[in-house]
Amino acid sequence: MHSSRHHRHEAGQVSAKTTNGLILKGGWRYDLHGWLFDACMFRGMGRELRQRTVTLAQLQPGDQVLDVGCGTGTLALEVQRRVGSAGRVVGIDPGNEQIARARAKAARHDLPIAFQVGVIEQLAFPDQMFDVVLSTLMMHHLPKNLKVQGLAEIVRVLKPGGRLIIADFTRKQERSGLATRFHAGGSSLSELAALIADAGFVQVDTEEMRPPRFSAFPGAGFVTAYKSADAGMIKER
Ligand SMILES: C[S@@+](CC[C@H](N)C(=O)[O-])C[C@H]1O[C@@H](n2cnc3c(N)ncnc32)[C@H](O)[C@@H]1O
Repeated sequence: MHSSRHHRHEAGQVSAKTTNGLILKGGWRYDLHGWLFDACMFRGMGRELRQRTVTLAQLQPGDQVLDVGCGTGTLALEVQRRVGSAGRVVGIDPGNEQIARARAKAARHDLPIAFQVGVIEQLAFPDQMFDVVLSTLMMHHLPKNLKVQGLAEIVRVLKPGGRLIIADFTRKQERSGLATRFHAGGSSLSELAALIADAGFVQVDTEEMRPPRFSAFPGAGFVTAYKSADAGMIKER
């Protein structure tokens, strides 16, 4: 669990948002580092994880989608292409530099994505706004109380029958050094699924992503779930 109010990978930046989660910094440096790390150490598993997230989201043209902890917006760009011009994609992250970089990428690709500085524990959106909420590699940044708060917020902003997809690293006891600090909020898939069910979601499913041999990619997985629909029907997708 993280103890201080702000956490950064590097000193020198204060985010516009305060959270007990682990805020990352760096715009293009984050992307470059992520790309190199994924190509060399993770053997493309980071990219595969995002693609699987998009598949599991079962996106439809016109969907309203929120990406929580969007970082520099790589996933949101792909999501906007899937939901088309009738759809709307919003990405939030407490990191100012991530959001600035995400906005620049969206502008470069001429995609109308709304990137905003924000935190999962206090989503600045009206009730029942989104068809789908996504989050990749973010939940392990949060202490348990923020996960609970954040999931309650996601329930609030999802439409009845709306879908949640969370992809995250899974906790490994044997991590040491920096990895221990970085993954301090990590849970096993079943712990994460239990929190999601406790938040009131239904049809909670998990899927594990196994790292390839000779890769430094840690274990990861997906939890998919629905906000229950008042009429007891899950939205047809
Ligand atoms: C490892 S990055 C993942 C970014 C992106 N989703 C991806 O897959 O590349 C985790 C992100 O979670 C963000 N984060 C940390 N605390 C948060 C909070 N309380 N609410 C929302 N996002 C948060 C960090 O700033 C960081 O950009």
